[in-house]
Amino acid sequence: MKRIALFASGSGSNAQRIAEYFNNNTEVHITGIYCNKPDAYVLIRAEKLGIPATIFKRSDFYESDTVLQKMLAENVDLIVLAGFLWLVPLNILNRFANRIINIHPALLPKFGGRGMFGARVHEAVIRCKETESGITIHYVNENYDEGNIIFQAKCLVNVNETPDSLAAKIHTLEYEHYPRIIEQILLSDT
Ligand code: GAR
Repeated sequence: MKRIALFASGSGSNAQRIAEYFNNNTEVHITGIYCNKPDAYVLIRAEKLGIPATIFKRSDFYESDTVLQKMLAENVDLIVLAGFLWLVPLNILNRFANRIINIHPALLPKFGGRGMFGARVHEAVIRCKETESGITIHYVNENYDEGNIIFQAKCLVNVNETPDSLAAKIHTLEYEHYPRIIEQILLSDT
């Protein structure tokens, strides 16, 4: 049995998609959804999905081992960031070396870094008149969006593209590939 901890800060549609993908899989278990925002919609999704939620404050995350200890107690194998917007602190990075992955809604190394999340990424892609965008799944290190790239998929950016229409294309790619890549990473462990 492989155990995944999902981290999300916002809507959590990727977290839901991942949870549903593994719902009937007896080899993979989502131990919990970890969230830094008490009013995030992902917490409602967690409740509907019957997945335990852990809400933590900045001080819990950066000045204590609370979150780390909880994941160790749950025997977490892989940490999956799905729209989680804080940097992961060193205590967790060190204990889960190469065991933390993230999805970014653009083709890194372009359009990444601090402050580049959600609609801001799509706005920047359109402003720069890019003809393609996509998703990047990568390992997480101590910097925003800089760990080794595991997988990328592309989509076209049309001349009349809006941040919303691009976000919809990106979400489609995310839902298609993120659960599948997570499964591959877990299988390659066995
Ligand atoms: C996703 O598009 C994800 O790639 C992006 O936030 C969105 C979360 O959507 N992540 C980042 O921008 C990280 N820099 P969701 O909450 O509906 O899954």
